[in-house]
Amino acid sequence: MGPLSPARTMRLWGPRSLGVALGVFMTIGFGLQLWGGPFQRRLPGLQLRQSWGPSLGPAVQSCLPRQQLVFLKTHKSGSSSVLNLLHRYGDRHGLRFALPARYQFGYPRLFQASRVKGYRPQGGGTQPSFHILCHHMRFNLKEVLQVMPSDSFFFSIVRDPATLARSAFSYYKSTSSAFRKAPSLAAFLANPRAFYRPGARGDHYARNLLWFDFGLPFPPEIRMKRGNSNLPKDPNSLRLQVLPSAVGSRAQVLDPNVVFQLVSTVADGHSQTASPASLDLGSSPFIQWGLAWLDSVFDLVMVAEYFDESLVLLADALCWGLDDVVGFMHNAQAGGEQALSHSGPMAEDQQQLSARARAWNNLDWALYIHFNRSLWERIEQYGQRRLQHAVAELRARREALAQHCLVGGEALDPKYIKDRRLRPFQFGSAKVLGYVLQSGLSPQDQEECERLATPELQYKDKLDAKQFPPTVSLPLKPSRLLSP
Ligand SMILES: *[C@@H]1O[C@H](CO)[C@@H](O)[C@H](O)[C@H]1NC(C)=O
Repeated sequence: MGPLSPARTMRLWGPRSLGVALGVFMTIGFGLQLWGGPFQRRLPGLQLRQSWGPSLGPAVQSCLPRQQLVFLKTHKSGSSSVLNLLHRYGDRHGLRFALPARYQFGYPRLFQASRVKGYRPQGGGTQPSFHILCHHMRFNLKEVLQVMPSDSFFFSIVRDPATLARSAFSYYKSTSSAFRKAPSLAAFLANPRAFYRPGARGDHYARNLLWFDFGLPFPPEIRMKRGNSNLPKDPNSLRLQVLPSAVGSRAQVLDPNVVFQLVSTVADGHSQTASPASLDLGSSPFIQWGLAWLDSVFDLVMVAEYFDESLVLLADALCWGLDDVVGFMHNAQAGGEQALSHSGPMAEDQQQLSARARAWNNLDWALYIHFNRSLWERIEQYGQRRLQHAVAELRARREALAQHCLVGGEALDPKYIKDRRLRPFQFGSAKVLGYVLQSGLSPQDQEECERLATPELQYKDKLDAKQFPPTVSLPLKPSRLLSP
C-alpha cells in the first residue's frame, strides 16, 4: 500500500468508474493544502517543540503540511494516542474538527454525515469546511465524503487480534453479552460459540472488531443477524463499493452482479472455524476484495505493534514535524503489559490463547497481516536506517517530554489524578491510566504539557467549546458519556 499514483488508481478503477474514481481518489496524494501555516513553532523555555533535525532531511522544508485528515479510530488499537496528536495539532493550528454531538458518530451504526455537528448538506447554504474527522465511527466512505474533501489524507491503525482480544475482553467485559457470559478470555476462546451469538448486544466487540470498524461486509454466517447494511440490496449501488476488487483490471469484476455473486459464493464456502494454519487467507477472494478496497481508500494504515515506526511514516506522509507526532500513550489499561507477556511459565498458555484469538478473529488476522506487510514495505522505501534514527529521536523526545511534564515521568493509576480535566474516563474491568502534571511549569510549558496529557473525551469537549462557543453562559455540566 502506498500513496495512490495515477497509474495505480487507473489499475484499481476501470474506465467506467473513472468519474467516481476522479472524484474520490485521483487527487489523494496531490492535494495542495490551503492551510500551510507555520508548522515548526518553537516555544520558549524548554523548547517543547523542536524540529526534526537532520533525520527527515529536506522534506520538512520542501513540502506543505497536510491538514485535511480522516482518521478511522479503530477500537483497542492504540488509536487514542493518535487522537491526542490530532487534537493537539488541530488545536494549535486552529483547524476545524468534524465533531460528533457526543463522543462517537452513532457507533456501532455506520457513519452518517448528518451526525457531524455543524454539517449542512451540500446546497444548504454556506458549507463549513472541516479539516479533521477522527472520532469513533464505523467507516462509511460515501458518507465520509459528504463531510471531507476526497483528497483528504485517509489513515487508520490496526493491532494484532491476539492482543486486541485481550484488551477488548477486559474493556468490553460488561458491554458485550458474549464476553459477559464468559468467565475468562481463555474460556471464551476455548469455545466461543458457547457464548457468542451474532446479533446479540455488543457482539461486534467480541469478533473481528477491526473488520467491523472498517465498515467491511461480513460473510453470511456472521452477517445474518447483524442486519449488515454494507452489502446494498440494490446491486447497482454495488458499483461504488465493490469496484476496487477489480485488482489487476480483471474486466469481469466490473460487473457488480458478478462481484456480488463472487463475494457471496466465496463467503458461503468460507470456514469460520478454520485454524490459522488451514485458513488460506491468500485464496479467499472475499477477504482479498475487502483488503483491495481498503488499499484504494486509505493512504496509510499504522500498526500498533510498530507504533513509533508508524508515527515516523505518518509525519513523513503528512509533512509534519517530529513534535507533531510525539505524544504519550492514552487510554492504556493497567496490567496491559503483563497480559502481553509471551515468555515465562505461562508462555505456552499465552501462545495458545493468541493462536485461538487469531483463528476466531480470522478476518482481522488477515487484515493485520496485510497491513503489517504494507507498513514494512513502506519502511523499506523510507529506508530502515533512516527510520531507526527517526524512531530513536522520537523516543528520546518523548522521554524528555515525559520527564519534564509528568509526575513520575509516566502514566499513573487514576487514583492519583485529582484534576478532572486530566482524569481519563474509567471504563471496563481494568483501570485506565492517565497523567499528573509537574508543578511549577512555565505558562507555555504548562499549556503544551496539558495538551499532551489531556484524555480524549476532555479534549473533545475543549475543542467543541472552542468551535461552538456557548451563546449563553451556563455552568458546565459534567460530561455524560455514551457507552463506548
Ligand atoms: C510484521 O512484519 C514484520 C516485518 O516483516 C515481521 O517481523 C513480523 O513477524 C510481522 N508480524 C506478523 C504478526 O506477521
